[in-house]
Amino acid sequence: MKTEFFHEPDAKAIARAGEILRSGGLVAIPTETVYGLAANAYDAEAVKNIFIAKGRPGDNPLIVHIADLSELKPLVRSVPESAKQLAAAFWPGPLTMILPKSDRVPYEVTAGLETVAVRFPSHPVANAIIRAAGLPLAAPSANLSGKPSPTNALHVYEDMNGRIDAIVDGGDCHFGVESTVITLAGEKPRLLRPGAVTLEMLRAVIGEVEMDSAVIEPLAEGEVAASPGMKYKHYSPKAEVYVLSGSPEAFIRYINSHCDEKTAALCYDEEANKINCATIPIGKEFDFSSQAHLLFNSLRRCDELGMKRVYAHIPRRDGISLAIYNRLMRAAGFKVIYV
Ligand code: TXA
Ligand code: MG
Repeated sequence: MKTEFFHEPDAKAIARAGEILRSGGLVAIPTETVYGLAANAYDAEAVKNIFIAKGRPGDNPLIVHIADLSELKPLVRSVPESAKQLAAAFWPGPLTMILPKSDRVPYEVTAGLETVAVRFPSHPVANAIIRAAGLPLAAPSANLSGKPSPTNALHVYEDMNGRIDAIVDGGDCHFGVESTVITLAGEKPRLLRPGAVTLEMLRAVIGEVEMDSAVIEPLAEGEVAASPGMKYKHYSPKAEVYVLSGSPEAFIRYINSHCDEKTAALCYDEEANKINCATIPIGKEFDFSSQAHLLFNSLRRCDELGMKRVYAHIPRRDGISLAIYNRLMRAAGFKVIYV
């Protein structure tokens, strides 16, 4: 398949993207979190093609994207008060809510579940494309399954060229980690995936929010994943990733005594000149937004540089850093070295 590449998200690109989506095709679109691989959410065949293009396991459901609050109602059975409050606080933006699905949403989207994940992104190009299509769009991250999520159009091109109908380049994604996922379909609101809308921010709006254990721990043998995406080894470069727990001084000491030409350090900017192997700076020590923004790009860099081993700092588990912790620990397969 020939993939159309639009270098500018101009009116022509947006109109063409809408046309492709209406006729059942797949288009990669920029959002404020990561790039998404979009299809008409009401078209079961188009949605099946997303799974094929990504090599995605069939039991991992997709998020449906809307461009107006009024588009939520047709997708769900009812809109609880908590969803209204969260929408008022964080939509449009990097928050996905899970609610019982309506009959209109095909099981291909929800991987057979009775719930559907819905997000109203804030990226103007994503919104323009949803409006041009005139449809809600099912869209997972636009990477090959298992690879780090794409935070620019080149990442999408690397993974998806020849596999989808079109890519619309909207520049670098602002947040760089996927949306926060909260389920409102159970007894209590529960965080399934941390993101830029933090647990602290959610609690400030709706009070008690539980954190699913899969946010910070590997699933136990035989445990059913509340969010199926969390059970797969994710976000991984080809290199083995190790998370180092200890002081910044101990981090540098450990790496410098384990260096070779196939080893890289994901380090803070201020450490780069103290480390004797390849360094991939991820932002300043306390600049968590910048670390989130650069994380997936850094993991892809490891492969570009042909690295076999990568060491990273263990992230904090609060604010947006909880999202970094969640992604990095999965990339590392939960391998932690205490230094
Ligand atoms: O920021 C984002 O959310 C990006 C952009 C493109 O919007 N999308 C994204 O989609 O990250 P994806 O498919 O890579 O991740 C969706 C996550 C998966 O972990 C999936 O298992 C979970 O949401 N999910 C989707 N529907 C669900 C449902 N009904 N119940 C539980 N988890 C669900
Ligand atoms: Mg994904």
